[in-house]
Amino acid sequence: MKVIRKAEELRQWSAAERSAGRSIGFVPTMGALHAGHLSLVEQARAANDLVAVSVFVNPTQFNNPDDLRTYPRTEQADLEKLEAAGVDVAFVPTVEEMYPEPDTRVFDLGPVASVMEGKMRPGHFNGVAQVVSRLFAMVNPTRAYFGEKDFQQIAVIRKMVELEGGFNGLEIVDVPIKREADGLAMSSRNVRLTPEMREKAPEIHRVLAKSVDFATNNSVQDTTNMVIDSINAVDGLETEYFQIVDGPTCLPIDQWSQSAAPVGCVTVYAGDVRLIDNIKFRSQC
Ligand code: PAF
Repeated sequence: MKVIRKAEELRQWSAAERSAGRSIGFVPTMGALHAGHLSLVEQARAANDLVAVSVFVNPTQFNNPDDLRTYPRTEQADLEKLEAAGVDVAFVPTVEEMYPEPDTRVFDLGPVASVMEGKMRPGHFNGVAQVVSRLFAMVNPTRAYFGEKDFQQIAVIRKMVELEGGFNGLEIVDVPIKREADGLAMSSRNVRLTPEMREKAPEIHRVLAKSVDFATNNSVQDTTNMVIDSINAVDGLETEYFQIVDGPTCLPIDQWSQSAAPVGCVTVYAGDVRLIDNIKFRSQC
């Protein structure tokens, strides 16, 4: 595996491979890699000649300085995992390399970026659009892979790709959430859970899974209330929001008939760790 730290070297590598007719699957990450990331790598491996992974904790997408400061950084372990997973290139830039000048671009991402995470974390999605658009321009991938745990992020990235003219026909591939045996969605933040919160956090997925059956005989509002009340009933868990949205647009619905692919998205504080998860509902249209 090649470890590349300079943007120009990455561009040259990609240009040579693409002009030789080889496809590149790209997995952008912020490191602290777990089996969820490795499932993205596995899919990229299966569908492309080459796989590139970036490891970069992007400061422009953190609206909370403490969250940026405490975000886990485990470069050596990450590189070992990527090597073992058969990755061809790991791109590990510094902040100065990614942003030689401050990025002042403001993306017109529309309503998809102004609900849920967009509302709770102002500027977050603009920062994601900034870094991912830079990475796409450097890697020029054939396909890019994103985990469905960050469900809204995928919709935002599709919008950014459309705004930026498509990045040479780049395909965005979404990959199902990878879960621990007890149902907790894998996340780099899970390592920050106290043992007590680690025991309680799987309740989030249990409630979401239960809500799928509950939804068949109950309204959107009653399903929403059930999820919030059940999660908050667990000592130490506090729902920030639970919103049922139309999957492709991420816009909130108040009737099941408003979406053929409804998704429930939740953010929960487990102690002081902010976890997100989501669940797909059956179509009731
Ligand atoms: O999902 C993430 O880890 C990040 O938001 C991403 C896409 C790597 C951009 O920094």
